[in-house]
Amino acid sequence: MTPKNPRTLFVCQNCGFQTGKWLGKCPDCEAWSSFLEEVLAPEPAYTRAPGLDAAGRNKPAPLISLSSVHEERRPCGCLEFDRALGGGLVLGSVVLIGGDPGIGKSTLMLQVLDRLCGNGYTGLYVSGEESAAQLKLRADRLGITSPTLLVATETCLENIFKLLESEKPHYLALDSIQTLYAASLPAAPGSITQVRETAFQLVQLAKRTNIPIFLIGHVTKEGAIAGPKLLEHMVDTVLYFEGDRSHTYRLLRTVKNRFGPSQELGVFEMRDTGLTEVTNPSALFLSERSLEAPGSVVVASIEGSRPILVEVQALVTPTSLGMPRRQATGVDAGRLSLLVAVLEKRMGLAFGNQDIFVNVAGGVRLTEPAADLGIIAALTSSLLDQPVPGDTLIFGEVGLTGEVRTVSQTALRLKEGAKLGFQRALIARGQKDSGLKMSELQIDAVGSVREALQRLFSKEGKQISGKKQ
Ligand code: TYD
Ligand code: MG
Repeated sequence: MTPKNPRTLFVCQNCGFQTGKWLGKCPDCEAWSSFLEEVLAPEPAYTRAPGLDAAGRNKPAPLISLSSVHEERRPCGCLEFDRALGGGLVLGSVVLIGGDPGIGKSTLMLQVLDRLCGNGYTGLYVSGEESAAQLKLRADRLGITSPTLLVATETCLENIFKLLESEKPHYLALDSIQTLYAASLPAAPGSITQVRETAFQLVQLAKRTNIPIFLIGHVTKEGAIAGPKLLEHMVDTVLYFEGDRSHTYRLLRTVKNRFGPSQELGVFEMRDTGLTEVTNPSALFLSERSLEAPGSVVVASIEGSRPILVEVQALVTPTSLGMPRRQATGVDAGRLSLLVAVLEKRMGLAFGNQDIFVNVAGGVRLTEPAADLGIIAALTSSLLDQPVPGDTLIFGEVGLTGEVRTVSQTALRLKEGAKLGFQRALIARGQKDSGLKMSELQIDAVGSVREALQRLFSKEGKQISGKKQ
């Protein structure tokens, strides 16, 4: 009798969708060529028999009767990292740090662990990517001094569990989740089955032992490496480390956080001695701004809990193509089209034969509608070739009828503007914010896009208002 072939399935390496035969495109997440054949394990390690246990511990209880636990937070001593975590590392939590290869994840991890170790705490950094010699070379560059930061090169999960038993560290970092494998599974390291199983076991471990675990995960556009999306569901906190490799600053963005606000943003600068914190990102993002250049506007955006001033640049130029180009970096392309349509319809400005490029300096992504008025001002400024006064801060949401709406946390935005030497602010009328009265800025409150553009481009004001509605 021939042995039975092990059962295999085709699994989407992006989202985990399973199918019996190979597909070119995943029907679930729409990724292309993402299916790999994986051998199924006879039985996953974590299946439990259904039903309540003898003590009836799975019995539902009234929510109000549960005793409240206060999660213990430990600050890492790195302000920008703590900010991204929502004010410190929660014990027993699993933090995923995702990012493109080479962006600086391993560097960040070593530096954070170095700060966490000390005061009797030990950390274990397990690398499946680099040799001990490479780690040492990096540690020397970073000036790591902590004697209680242990490193190991290992990729087998069972061996890592043994290391944990013998070393009993207070913190664990695994670089990277895609190199780990559980020996009990036949699937290859990096496949979605392995990523799911190893991550599941690590999450269980963190909850059982209260050790915080950092997982590093690569994200590649080709979808060659498994599971960042799937991992996001399993862990407590997801941080993305981003940045333009040709620039030195790096952004640590909180995408998900069970223990704090998401949308937080930590800012770092990559130097030859590692990452340093940027405590005043607004100043950094505005440092290369050319004042009084047409198409340049500074908007005040709220990233998580703090205001950040960023420069929005627009370039509007006659097109030589049949179909004009619309290119947006850092701004949603759909939102840009909407704002252009508002300008065309409400202000009679003609963008139909113009290429439009919009860029947010510093790699920041503006997701708030508060940036609308700034984008409108930048577009008009470039179209008319007239600069917006360099000392003016602009923010407000723009509606489809061309009205300018109020946004949240106005006082916080204005305060940041005053700190960086801005003199005026163009904002929505009707802000009922007590902080407004105390603001050091001269406030220009407007109710519509028309009014805003008339204030900004005084000479062209007549031309703007004279055009058809
Ligand atoms: P790394 O942490 O290895 O990235 P990842 O783990 O995300 O793949 O960082 C690699 C890059 O960082 C590399 O291009 C060199 C740069 N770097 C510095 O500029 N300064 C430093 O002190 C270090 C350690 C790295
Ligand atoms: Mg690395």
